[in-house]
Amino acid sequence: MKNIIIFGPQGSGKGTQADILSDKFSIPHVSTGRIFREEIKKGTELGKKADELINAGNLLPDDITNEIVKNRLLEKDCKNGYILDGYPRDIAQAEYFDTIAKISHALEIWIPDKISVERINKRRTCQKCGEVFHLEFNPPKKTNTCDECGGELTTRKDDKKEWIKKRLEIYHSRTENLIDYYKNKNIYHKIDGRPGIDEVAKNILEIIK
Ligand code: AP5
Ligand code: MG
Repeated sequence: MKNIIIFGPQGSGKGTQADILSDKFSIPHVSTGRIFREEIKKGTELGKKADELINAGNLLPDDITNEIVKNRLLEKDCKNGYILDGYPRDIAQAEYFDTIAKISHALEIWIPDKISVERINKRRTCQKCGEVFHLEFNPPKKTNTCDECGGELTTRKDDKKEWIKKRLEIYHSRTENLIDYYKNKNIYHKIDGRPGIDEVAKNILEIIK
């Protein structure tokens, strides 16, 4: 069973690689960040709260996030495995997750902060379907237009320069603790996120297969 979690700093390629794995193994890519962005778009109560927190570089509260993940993983398409991108995000979420699921692989995609900032500055995301592009490394065929659905490409609101530093600080102080947590469970794998998208994907597949 492939119950995979991917963590790593902002712009390390979690979403990009989770999409590739999802196609390869026909299991869903579940991104908590993407779920929150959908709620923001729909203007739900959760969306309003998420908008305030995410766009100031903060995390959502654990109880809300845990509940969302629990419900999502109960859906039928997750019964043969899933790739969880952006969750768990700290030890408290990891401990909760251990009570509801069994992880097969915990992957950390590592890049230095300087690359995080560079990648995020040139990331463009589809307003309509959430597909991710990079102006230099994964450019859309047509300027500002999504290859998948024709939607408009924009910069994510939380990708403003002033929030990237804060998001990285939270990553280093909270999420990085997952490294030792999963090392102790013998399911941790570190992947160098600096090479190109295809090479990183190849290295991940070596670990998973
Ligand atoms: P989330 O959406 O998870 O954002 P993040 O963790 O900040 O990560 P990113 O999506 O910015 O980066 P990524 O690693 O996915 O990189 P990508 O593939 O896009 O979360 C957003 C917010 O939601 C959080 O800040 C928080 O507020 C909230 N949230 C989410 N989960 C939560 C939780 N569990 N608990 C509480 N709150 C939560 O790639 C980046 C760019 O680089 C792209 O342009 C891509 O094309 C390019 N690229 C990717 N790989 C390569 C490569 N190898 N070489 C060159 N370019 C590459
Ligand atoms: Mg992402």
